[in-house]
Amino acid sequence: MAENKSIGPRETWATRIGLILAMAGNAIGLGNFLRFPGRVALYGGGAYLIPYFIALFLLGFPIMWLEWTIGRYGGQYRAHWLGPMMYLITKKKFNHRNAKLIAGIFGGFVLSISILLNAYYTNLIGWIAFWAGMSMSGRITEVTEVSQSVGYLLKVISDPFYNLIPWAISLIITGIIVAPGISKGIERGNKIMMPLLFLFAIVLLITGFTWRTPIKPEWDSLKGFFWLWTPRYEMLGDPATWLEGAGQIFFTLSLGIAGIIPTYASYLRRDEDLTLSALTTVSLNEFAEVICGGSIAFTLGYAFGGEIPIGMVFVDKKSPFFLAMAVYPAFFGKLGTAGALLGTLWYTLLWFAGVTSAIAITNTLVEFFNDLGIKRSMGAFLSVFLMFIFGLPIVIEGSMTINYDWGPTTVYLDFTDFVVGSFLLVVVALLETVFAGAFVWKEGYEELNRGGLIKVPKWIWTILLSIIAPLYLSAMIFWLPFSTRADAIIRQTGKPLEWLGPTMATLSLVFTLVFFVTGYIATTKIIEKKYASIQV
Ligand code: PHE
Repeated sequence: MAENKSIGPRETWATRIGLILAMAGNAIGLGNFLRFPGRVALYGGGAYLIPYFIALFLLGFPIMWLEWTIGRYGGQYRAHWLGPMMYLITKKKFNHRNAKLIAGIFGGFVLSISILLNAYYTNLIGWIAFWAGMSMSGRITEVTEVSQSVGYLLKVISDPFYNLIPWAISLIITGIIVAPGISKGIERGNKIMMPLLFLFAIVLLITGFTWRTPIKPEWDSLKGFFWLWTPRYEMLGDPATWLEGAGQIFFTLSLGIAGIIPTYASYLRRDEDLTLSALTTVSLNEFAEVICGGSIAFTLGYAFGGEIPIGMVFVDKKSPFFLAMAVYPAFFGKLGTAGALLGTLWYTLLWFAGVTSAIAITNTLVEFFNDLGIKRSMGAFLSVFLMFIFGLPIVIEGSMTINYDWGPTTVYLDFTDFVVGSFLLVVVALLETVFAGAFVWKEGYEELNRGGLIKVPKWIWTILLSIIAPLYLSAMIFWLPFSTRADAIIRQTGKPLEWLGPTMATLSLVFTLVFFVTGYIATTKIIEKKYASIQV
């Protein structure tokens, strides 16, 4: 049989460095450079690192190892995405019918998360592409006032011309990189983009600490750095701080995101090291996040704009993404050629970070389509096409509301980000810890350490992963819907054109449900056809 164990996975990573860079590219995204510093600013400064690192050790490392193990295990049976992988893992304990049901649920989440998350995530990458283009062409130097750059951002959100073109280009490039396959497309793409990303990050970091007062003597970049990191321990009393600390760990490490880590791990050979490679990936991600992400945005921001950017995040509760897209361009513009150059580094870095993550999601969807008999190159373009279609409501809601003085509505974007980008990830991770944890998957721990260059101690698997993590995740799931972020999104709907916000939120929920059901049904069919006969 084609799916026979002895044949091994169809495609594999060509080199270990390629694997690590691709996995790092998967994890390092907009979350590292924008979401993270924003969370630090809002949830306690340096004190935020306490819930953040606790979640990294209790949840991040164990679940990362789990997802790699699920993936490498599935890969040997040519299961390259989470649905069938979970079928193979749970079949022994639960029998075919129940395992198929479990796989169907995972399949439903994979389909809805992959399409809808990438729908808005790639749209944001498009906004970045716009500013990257403005920086490279030097046109950013014409933008010298914040009111001007805000004006441009509003156009980018609401004018289809400004929105669709950079977004479509970014999607097409994503498709072009995914289409040739693992080693020829994805690995190569990451081998180019990731080293540049680190290089640009380091240049920006050094610039921020050395070019301390480019605009005004009192706007010293170090003040921005210290402002961000001064701990405010009282925030630790707020449960939201703990929730946001753990939520960030999931988002930044790509855990629970449509099984994109298991899919990348499925291209490992079965005896290839997993333990050290996963550890390296996490370390690279944390370097990019805490060291680079934590010292670029606000350090440069303060040097360029003093209290302005800080006030926007802290007082007006604008996301750092808004800062990066609407405020920083004016600062770069003011600095002339040097600014255009720094802007090029900053926006290209963000674009690389975003695209290398979007590639990982697209590739997972390609594997899903592949199981339905659609070839990779076709699947890659079908995937990005679907992401485009289901991202269109962002442009529609923006263009409908642009003329109101409170600015365009982004409910579809924010609500989808909340449901699929914050909530469902945690649900998927919980199901993984339950169904592939030590109580169900007896061989899991041994699989993890097979071929490992380091040995993961057993208590990490049995206690942290299989007991602490499910409890921690259940608490998060319970708390998340009540958190302040959910309210904030709903409150946005109280603006003029009152029907639009609730309509967009409903639309997003309906899409999520429809994809979930479609994914469930398709997965059960796929299991019957391709995986039921495999002996585990
Ligand atoms: N880890 C990514 C980040 O930090 C999250 C992500 C992965 C988003 C894949 C989209 C696609 O941005």
